[in-house]
Amino acid sequence: MSAHKFLIWGGEGWVAGHLKELLQKQGKEVETTTIRMENRESVLQKLEEYKPTHVLNCAGVTGRPNVDWCEDNKEATIRSNVIGTLNLADCCWLKGIHITNFATGCIYHYDDEHPIGGKTFTEEDTANFSGSYYSATKSKVEEIMKQYSNALVLRLRMPVSDDLHPRSFVTKISKYEKVVNIPNSNTLLTDMLPVSIVLAENNETGVYNFTNPGAISHNEVLDLFAKYVRPGFTYSNFTVEEQSKILKAGRSNCELDTTKLVNKLKEYNVEIPEVHVAYEECFKRMAAGGTK
Ligand SMILES: NC(=O)c1ccc[n+]([C@@H]2O[C@H](COP(=O)([O-])OP(=O)(O)OC[C@H]3O[C@@H](n4cnc5c(N)ncnc54)[C@H](OP(=O)(O)O)[C@@H]3O)[C@@H](O)[C@H]2O)c1
Repeated sequence: MSAHKFLIWGGEGWVAGHLKELLQKQGKEVETTTIRMENRESVLQKLEEYKPTHVLNCAGVTGRPNVDWCEDNKEATIRSNVIGTLNLADCCWLKGIHITNFATGCIYHYDDEHPIGGKTFTEEDTANFSGSYYSATKSKVEEIMKQYSNALVLRLRMPVSDDLHPRSFVTKISKYEKVVNIPNSNTLLTDMLPVSIVLAENNETGVYNFTNPGAISHNEVLDLFAKYVRPGFTYSNFTVEEQSKILKAGRSNCELDTTKLVNKLKEYNVEIPEVHVAYEECFKRMAAGGTK
């Protein structure tokens, strides 16, 4: 058992569940909490009682059934994703605790300088996507969060699990009547969550694009899904303009630059697979697990 003690915030959430299972498998000391992040007294009390060395923050409003919810619930979105997230980071800073924030890379979209297949978005690029209130608050919080010397910010995008959990990107797009077909950076949890533990345990800080290297289109994902998991699966496409008619808020499409992450991981002899390779392995595991 290492001297590290992990406390996962947002304990009932999807990513939180995966992290807890992973840490337990690694034999690490871990506890989860559902205390509201904005409740300062309760947060401080929990930190004082449990005395974690590392907080893994998986809490946040993501909206149900999707981020469109945030458009109509701006105050609640601010309470969790702005006030709460910053409050938790601040309490950890006061107590000298490292915090890893599971954030989002959905703060960019392709533009003239960063076209599809061209230059990708680095951690230094200013967010250029605020088409949804969810993304708008997340990018503003990141700007402040990165001033905290105890904070590691991991920008996930379109996370994917090895099952067909409703929150997994594959599950979502396999159920849509029509999908757009745009290359995007994706975070395959089986590859990436162990990496988050390595970074946290080494007290790394700052912002990282936290996706598998490369970009993969919706059609490429679904073709691989059909190949390995559900033979005969079909889908149909529509354009972004057509998609926007059925959504309240816009959706980010972008490729993130993973150079900073890949280089950092070399220090720990850790490699992460390119996104197409990662998907092939993910779907093989899915099929082997009996998912159809
Ligand atoms: N899934 C994605 O597509 C995706 C993509 C990129 C980034 N992320 C980020 O990754 C993080 C985890 O995502 P997830 O998919 O695991 O979401 P999730 O399943 O919705 O889990 C989030 C958890 O946070 C809790 N929560 C919300 N507001 C809170 C607050 N103020 N204080 C304490 N807990 C609070 C929720 O509890 P209640 O239900 O009780 O409110 C829920 O259990 C989120 O910050 C999300 O923005 C997710």
